[in-house]
Amino acid sequence: MPWNSTRASSMATKDHRLLHHQNSKRNFSLFPLLSLLCFASIFLALSLFRKASIPLHSRGISRFRSDPNAALQSCDFSDGTWIYDPDAPPQRYDSTCKEIFKGWNCIASNKSNARELIKWKWKPKQCDLPSFDPVRFLEKYRDTSIGFIGDSLNRNMFVSLFCTLKRVTGEVKKWRPVGSDRGFTFLHYNLTIAYHRTNLLARYGRWSANSNGGELESLGYKEGFRVDIDVPEGTWAEAPSFHDILIFNTGHWWWAPSKFDPLKSPMIFFENGHPVIPPLHPHVGLDKVLKHMVIYVEKRARPSTVKIFRTQSPRHFEGGDWDQGGSCQRLQPLLPEQVEELFSLKNNGTNVEARVVNQHLYKALEGSNFHILDITRMSELRADAHPSAAGGKKHDDCLHWCLPGVTDTWNDLFIAHLNFKVRN
Ligand SMILES: *[C@@H]1O[C@H](CO)[C@@H](O)[C@H](O)[C@H]1NC(C)=O
Ligand SMILES: *[C@@H]1O[C@H](CO)[C@@H](O)[C@H](O)[C@H]1NC(C)=O
Ligand SMILES: *[C@@H]1O[C@H](CO)[C@@H](O)[C@H](O)[C@H]1NC(C)=O
Repeated sequence: MPWNSTRASSMATKDHRLLHHQNSKRNFSLFPLLSLLCFASIFLALSLFRKASIPLHSRGISRFRSDPNAALQSCDFSDGTWIYDPDAPPQRYDSTCKEIFKGWNCIASNKSNARELIKWKWKPKQCDLPSFDPVRFLEKYRDTSIGFIGDSLNRNMFVSLFCTLKRVTGEVKKWRPVGSDRGFTFLHYNLTIAYHRTNLLARYGRWSANSNGGELESLGYKEGFRVDIDVPEGTWAEAPSFHDILIFNTGHWWWAPSKFDPLKSPMIFFENGHPVIPPLHPHVGLDKVLKHMVIYVEKRARPSTVKIFRTQSPRHFEGGDWDQGGSCQRLQPLLPEQVEELFSLKNNGTNVEARVVNQHLYKALEGSNFHILDITRMSELRADAHPSAAGGKKHDDCLHWCLPGVTDTWNDLFIAHLNFKVRN
């Protein structure tokens, strides 16, 4: 994927300092693990006790705190820590899952820590993340259709879910809902999942100056990309009318100057078929696109459709951006203070767009009936979990995620969200 930046050189020295912190890491991973086990057994004991006693609703409000469902409903799943568990259960799928794009298949390409990645378990501060039971999921979401709509990072998440479900039910029919890039129905359950590719959500295409002139031509524009802020891209325009659950993302391509070069091939925004004059900065364009797309989806989707927007997936380029020799060679997650160093808006580093995009998102979704799935905080810690040089690419991939890997946990969060925040 295209990226470009000039602000990376100062990162190189910082990275060195960061690397030195890193080694003391594994020593204290045992303590949180023990407390996790301890918590887990208390929860288990509580739930067994409860099943044997009085039904839920007849208990007084004073017992509210001992109800694990209530604890999950109010839990902020996104705020927590990664805990190393050397005895983690086996991966939920393996490198033979056909949907895994070669560049993301870190086990097959022998990335040194590929099998370590899934030994890190996400532990929200306020609760335990319920573990994802694919069979229960298939049963609960029988006759349901789920659409992933967005860029390749949403495809990464889609593939993770596909491989997880495929492992427990073999009967799958390839099926492509209108406009989608790929889709599958798990026949025994009539559960469909589909991926709709769209980089900006809005429709866009090449634009070049007309020899007869025009408003843009008179401002000196010659080449660029026309982005229709009020028109959804055809790949997903129909999706809100037929999926039961929609999960959106956009972000990376808004900060991709190697495609949308501000000078050579800028984004030129159109509304109602006419250029917006004076031309908008991409930041403003993003706000307008988000606003229009939220309205579009709310109008098109059925009232029962669950609408989710996933927050931005962080990149972890260090020592330069993707095309400046930047890489992501860490073998363990970052410490919280290292995360701040890399991502804080104040530091304005190579990967700062993760939090910038989120600012735009939160603003656009305020007052809408979209749920926000915050995967940014948990993912910022996982500098170890990108393909990096695996798969023999020309540039390191510090943008997508190894599979199996972090996007499996995104799906855990997604499903916990569906089960405890949406349906209750
Ligand atoms: C962040 O860095 C970029 C590239 O060096 C620069 O163009 C931009 O103005 C900076 N932003 C802030 C808020 O300092
Ligand atoms: C990974 O290692 C295996 C076993 O050593 C080898 O057969 C395979 O060719 C390697 N794959 C890559 C992409 O290097
Ligand atoms: C299968 O699921 C879809 C929703 O994805 C639903 O519209 C359809 O009626 C279901 N088919 C059957 C046979 O239940």
